[in-house]
Amino acid sequence: MAPSDRAGQIAAHLNYPKGMLNGQVAIVTGSGQGIGAETARLFANEGAWVVVSDIDAEKGQKVADSINASGGKAISIPGDIQ
Ligand SMILES: NC(=O)c1ccc[n+]([C@@H]2O[C@H](COP(=O)([O-])OP(=O)(O)OC[C@H]3O[C@@H](n4cnc5c(N)ncnc54)[C@H](O)[C@@H]3O)[C@@H](O)[C@H]2O)c1
Repeated sequence: MAPSDRAGQIAAHLNYPKGMLNGQVAIVTGSGQGIGAETARLFANEGAWVVVSDIDAEKGQKVADSINASGGKAISIPGDIQ
């Protein structure tokens, strides 16, 4: 493969500044705190629309609010995953 072809191939895989998950929906269970909350923030930073789901509605809403306040897109849908 010619170097110019390779450069074009790599460029097609880059999505800056939209993020690796741009246009995708991520449902993160148990994301009212801890690892789940950080995962929700990470995915939002990569452009995903995040559904923050936790058994504790108040905690889930706070995480969704903080994501939206920092420029991400999130909603809280509480639920018991078990
Ligand atoms: N923190 C660590 O170092 C670590 C290491 C290895 C494994 N883990 C495992 O990873 C998972 C998450 O860890 P963590 O530290 O973020 O836990 P955490 O307790 O801080 O957070 C768990 C979240 O899940 C929610 N939750 C609990 N039961 C639920 C249910 N039935 N439906 C929906 N939401 C529910 C809680 O309300 C809470 O917000 C746990 O299973 C833990 O055992 C954690």
